[in-house]
Amino acid sequence: MNSRIWMSLARMSGREQEFIQEAFDTNWVVPLGPNVNAFEKALRDFLIENEELKIESEEQHVVALSAGTAALHLGLILLGVKAKDEVICQSFTFAASANPIVYLEATPVFVDSERDTWNIDPELLEKAIKDRILKTGKKPKAIIPVHLYGMPGKMDEILDVARRYEIPVLEDAAEALGSEYKKQRCGTFGTLGVLSFNGNKMITTSGGGALVCRTEENARQALFYATQAREQAPHYEHEKIGYNYRMSNICAGIGRGQMFVLGEHIARRRCIHDLYVRLLKGMKGVHVMNQPVDGDFNSNYWLTCITIEPEEAGFTRENVRLALDADNIESRPLWKPMHLQPVFKNAPFYGNGTSERLFQIGLCLPSGPTLTDEDIERVVRVIKNLACKS
Ligand SMILES: Cc1ncc(COP(=O)(O)O)c(C=O)c1O
Repeated sequence: MNSRIWMSLARMSGREQEFIQEAFDTNWVVPLGPNVNAFEKALRDFLIENEELKIESEEQHVVALSAGTAALHLGLILLGVKAKDEVICQSFTFAASANPIVYLEATPVFVDSERDTWNIDPELLEKAIKDRILKTGKKPKAIIPVHLYGMPGKMDEILDVARRYEIPVLEDAAEALGSEYKKQRCGTFGTLGVLSFNGNKMITTSGGGALVCRTEENARQALFYATQAREQAPHYEHEKIGYNYRMSNICAGIGRGQMFVLGEHIARRRCIHDLYVRLLKGMKGVHVMNQPVDGDFNSNYWLTCITIEPEEAGFTRENVRLALDADNIESRPLWKPMHLQPVFKNAPFYGNGTSERLFQIGLCLPSGPTLTDEDIERVVRVIKNLACKS
């Protein structure tokens, strides 16, 4: 049997254990401490590091949390989302973008994607906002755009709609650490931004996330809610419901070590994408997802995705997935849109057919930084063999 090729495995720098050891040596084995502070600072520096990067507000604060999902949950709380409110969310995403809306007993309103980036369609977004105001008499409380598979969304257009209707943006950049739109790093566009350090992401803390805040006050509030909403008092005094969402000093030690290889991971995933483009070029009906060519979009290519037009290719997405699986290669259909998920079947949806079609014909290919060129060649060989047989 061929060795297993996984979609996206973690890769260590070798420095992680130093920081973990330091935490043990100094007895900072708690959900705060020097690793947490240093990891937050390193992330903040990374988000705004490049002098060429245009950034509206230099003031960025990063709060390290136990998961990206926790960051989304706290983000919605900070934006004042309450029971019976509506929150607009990109339909084409992972369920974690939408679940926290329901934690707060608010209603998700799903909006379809445009075809260039596969992210929320700004025109449809405006249509949805107008229609919700007409139907419910009030504005949606927040907008959650996602940079899916690392591809930046059309942020100028999205932010323009958000500004005109004065609705805050909670930017889900869980998959987009290192991606840029018009030379600005993803995660810094919204009123609040979300990062994830889950095992399969650009860097890992074994599990973790962060909320990127534009103001010191928002960062202070995020920290307050993430640490059980404890009021200033010698005893434990609570006026609000809090959460246990802070990142541990051990996980942050892994994160500190990972910052040494973040640049390499971004470069390698982009190389892998380019290799797929080159090797799959000319295959009938098989298209590799690419960033728009106008130079505004710079994806980290977290995962390389392909679409297969069955009539042209002579085989389907599922044929490819099963053939890869038979060769011991992991691949996965693109995210099933939220409006098709049984759990969200009653949520309002504004569609244009894009995400449904992509779900039918799209596949994520192995893209992790541990993969060699030979691994990618093996993946492509399996796909090309299908074409020979059809
Ligand atoms: C688009 C998106 N949003 C949110 C999350 C949630 O992040 P986490 O797994 O760190 O909770 C993920 C990944 O898991 C994701 O892919």
